[in-house]
Amino acid sequence: MIEIRGVTKRFGSFTAVDNLSLSVRAGEFLTLLGPSGCGKTTLLRLLAGFEMPDEGVILLDGQDVSHLPPYRRSVNQVFQSYALFPHLSVRDNVGFGLRMQNVPAPEAAARVAEALEMVSLREQADRLPHQLSGGQRQRVALARAIVCRPKVLLLDEPLSALDAKLRHNMQLELKHLQRRLGLTFVFVTHDQEEALTMSDRIAIIHRGRIEQLGAAGEIYHRPRTPFAADFIGQANLLQVAVVGRNGTTARVRVGGGLELTVASAELPAGARTALVSIRPEKICISKQRLDTENLFEATIEEEIFQGATDQLRLVTTQGTRLHALVANESAMQEAFHEGDRVYCGLHLDDLVIVQAE
Ligand SMILES: Nc1ncnc2c1ncn2[C@@H]1O[C@H](COP(=O)(O)OP(=O)(O)O)[C@@H](O)[C@H]1O
Ligand SMILES: [Mg+2]
Repeated sequence: MIEIRGVTKRFGSFTAVDNLSLSVRAGEFLTLLGPSGCGKTTLLRLLAGFEMPDEGVILLDGQDVSHLPPYRRSVNQVFQSYALFPHLSVRDNVGFGLRMQNVPAPEAAARVAEALEMVSLREQADRLPHQLSGGQRQRVALARAIVCRPKVLLLDEPLSALDAKLRHNMQLELKHLQRRLGLTFVFVTHDQEEALTMSDRIAIIHRGRIEQLGAAGEIYHRPRTPFAADFIGQANLLQVAVVGRNGTTARVRVGGGLELTVASAELPAGARTALVSIRPEKICISKQRLDTENLFEATIEEEIFQGATDQLRLVTTQGTRLHALVANESAMQEAFHEGDRVYCGLHLDDLVIVQAE
């Protein structure tokens, strides 16, 4: 549906998008995820035609649109900052595009009603923009873009002004709608949870380049760079020395002496040092000795209550510090407290090498 080939965009001497290539499949929900300033908005503006690339080409549906103006591209964009027609009601703002397309009035009314329902603004349909909150105006902008059902919808942090609960509902609604109508979404966010909740695939953007591209689960479970591991979710990043190989596994040593077994497929031949990423929730903790590979003992230095989970700060007998996350499920389960000595286990597959030399 979209093909970006070697696109570079500079502002003066600053390179905002750096020789970036990316294909977006028809009907997929692709998210551009990255910290503020990494070039996400610039990339969307290049797709929409509000910026022209200095190098590279952009194809939409096989057509080279690199130098076509926005109105000649079949994409629709919801911006981070949105403009509504101040003199039109919410309903008329949302229906505006359909009137321009000469959609018959009964169909237009039904689609507007559906879009307003989706963004929970049915009761505000007759209000004017100045009578709405920031979050409500953002939802109007979203409804206005969705109602036209463009082939590709570009969404630049469209949920950023919403409070947590509404934001979560809208994430699910938007995902549902995208699936049901088979629309192609390119969605921008700096919020990793939002990206994991909504996306088929995620492109992690760092300094104008794609750091990693993959299915949401793949990005989470198999981050391929320290930046990706750290940006998505929480990660314990440990510098290790490779001390031996044995067929399908390898032994690595963390400073202080803690030794762990990793899958040797993770380590390139000849690597002597590496950076291992361990997700906090993958560390299995028990007061009883566990029957597992990568068993070690630790003391709980600090316990932080987080509602559904407890964040534990561990220090192993070798002095390695680790963050762990345990579910706060029921009173039937073991409870952990500061000062407890515990056994920790780690499955081979949960040790991910994100860098090796
Ligand atoms: N029109 C512009 N002129 C100069 N610099 C710009 C312009 N637009 C964006 N930039 C710079 O390019 C970088 C990427 O910006 P942007 O794409 O908005 O990042 P993001 O959306 O990921 O936060 C930033 O450092 C920003 O200051
Ligand atoms: Mg932006």
